[in-house]
Amino acid sequence: MAEFALPKNSRMTEGKVWPKPAGAKHTTDFRIYRWDPDTDENPRIDTYTVDRDDCGPMVLDAIIWIKNKVDATLTFRRSCREGICGSCAMNIDGANTLACTKGIDEVERKGVVKIYPLPHMPVVKDLVPDLTRFYAQHASIEPWLQTTTPAPEKEWRQSHEDRQKLDGLYECILCACCSTSCPSYWWNGDRYLGPAALLQAYRWLIDSRDEATGERLDQLEDPFRLYRCHTIMNCANVCPKGLNPAKAIAEIKQMMVVRQV
Ligand code: SF4
Ligand code: SF4
Ligand code: FES
Repeated sequence: MAEFALPKNSRMTEGKVWPKPAGAKHTTDFRIYRWDPDTDENPRIDTYTVDRDDCGPMVLDAIIWIKNKVDATLTFRRSCREGICGSCAMNIDGANTLACTKGIDEVERKGVVKIYPLPHMPVVKDLVPDLTRFYAQHASIEPWLQTTTPAPEKEWRQSHEDRQKLDGLYECILCACCSTSCPSYWWNGDRYLGPAALLQAYRWLIDSRDEATGERLDQLEDPFRLYRCHTIMNCANVCPKGLNPAKAIAEIKQMMVVRQV
């Protein structure tokens, strides 16, 4: 076990090393964060050996294999298993990503894959972060169409060009990979909205059908809500959908400047 030694100052403890699958020829070890705040004093790292010939190619396949065949208490979120629901976001090999779209071979280092929950969020249990604040921040930008003119008989119409302005924004699946990789959000997450909520704020700000642009900008005009972004770009680097929240934030700042001149 020497190769798995934790740093001396870590509050984390070495957990259980679960038995290797009998007769397996191709295996990968998974070092997984375990913590039940209701019963455990400190988090621990459990080690599971997965039989790769009996398991699918993705990290989520391995976690499900472990839960089904080794340790039913391992707790994580997942739903769609195809990068649509955002539930399986976690920190794998040091980067926030979706377990269902990340291949084991991409993140295996010397036969080991390391998995932690999304960083700097309260932990509900094991790999499940508490996203209550994250969702409240999304709700705070009022992510729905707001209009003052009477509703049309059939539908709010939009030109092809205006619709295209929403590309790169509407695809967000609210996985929280970006916000939980943002240093500004780590330190000021109670007041800074973070890249995910701001990307959605921009999505509604530039929707040609929306008639609440001024009010939306007023809501963001605050030293913390918007202006804590320091363009560190972690958000764009980790987004599993290839979106660029930092660019959207820069566009909002630009809108603020334009409306002041
Ligand atoms: S660019 Fe802004 S939002 Fe993105 S990680 Fe950096 S500080 Fe956070
Ligand atoms: S912008 Fe990307 S990383 Fe951030 S919540 Fe949306 S899909 Fe996830
Ligand atoms: S299970 Fe839905 S995004 Fe991974």
